[in-house]
Amino acid sequence: MADNLEALVDANGSETIAGVVVEPMQGSAGVIVPPHGYLKKLRSICDAHQILLIFDEVITGFGRLGEWFAADRFGVIPDMIICAKGVISGVVPLGGVIVRDSIYNEIMVGPSHLVEFFHGYTNSGHPLACAAGISAINVYESEGLLAKSSKLEIELEKAIHSLRDEAHVVDIRNIGMAVAIEFETRNNQISMRVMEIFQYCFDHGVMIRYTGDIIAIGPALVCDETEIEAIIETIRSAIRAIA
Ligand SMILES: Cc1ncc(COP(=O)(O)O)c(C=O)c1O
Repeated sequence: MADNLEALVDANGSETIAGVVVEPMQGSAGVIVPPHGYLKKLRSICDAHQILLIFDEVITGFGRLGEWFAADRFGVIPDMIICAKGVISGVVPLGGVIVRDSIYNEIMVGPSHLVEFFHGYTNSGHPLACAAGISAINVYESEGLLAKSSKLEIELEKAIHSLRDEAHVVDIRNIGMAVAIEFETRNNQISMRVMEIFQYCFDHGVMIRYTGDIIAIGPALVCDETEIEAIIETIRSAIRAIA
């Protein structure tokens, strides 16, 4: 897959490519875990051609994969990280971009009377959101949620794969505290089965998400093994209740 980037560079010239943006683990597409070596290869192609490597860590950041960032888990350091969701645990809207020193320094040069990087929004740098973000990070640290997430990952993996012999299940994927189950499409009606599974789970107190014929869950890092079991058993009941 990374070879596609090399082919693009060959076809168009590296000077036409400013950056490559990837989710280090594709969350919204249904927990697609990168093949071994894929991100490292992207990194080396980007390095060879002076292309910025940008990780969209909106889903994977802040403990979802057991480390602060997927970059840590996969041992590949991008030039920029986009983050949101976990930085605030969803309580107040906050997103951010983390950049390498060299990019920061590039932005910060210029006359002191001018705004360094003129890129403002109505709510940029909002003190309420930033205060809540700092509090969330303090809770991640004080409650040891990253270590907890690494431990829960093992329980979650065991539990989710116990669904492999249920009807219509074609694939189960997991990494960290993110899991997805892919189902056969019913009568060419994409999403119909998983929409019904979603509704069943919702009616029984479990919020899942669905895309195509895939359901995905990302349990809160503060949950415990009993709650993981309850989530999985609700999904099992849903699969059995729905043809
Ligand atoms: C992987 C990923 N990137 C980016 C976004 C967009 O983030 P935001 O809604 O904070 O702009 C989302 C939103 O769900 C997402 O899942």
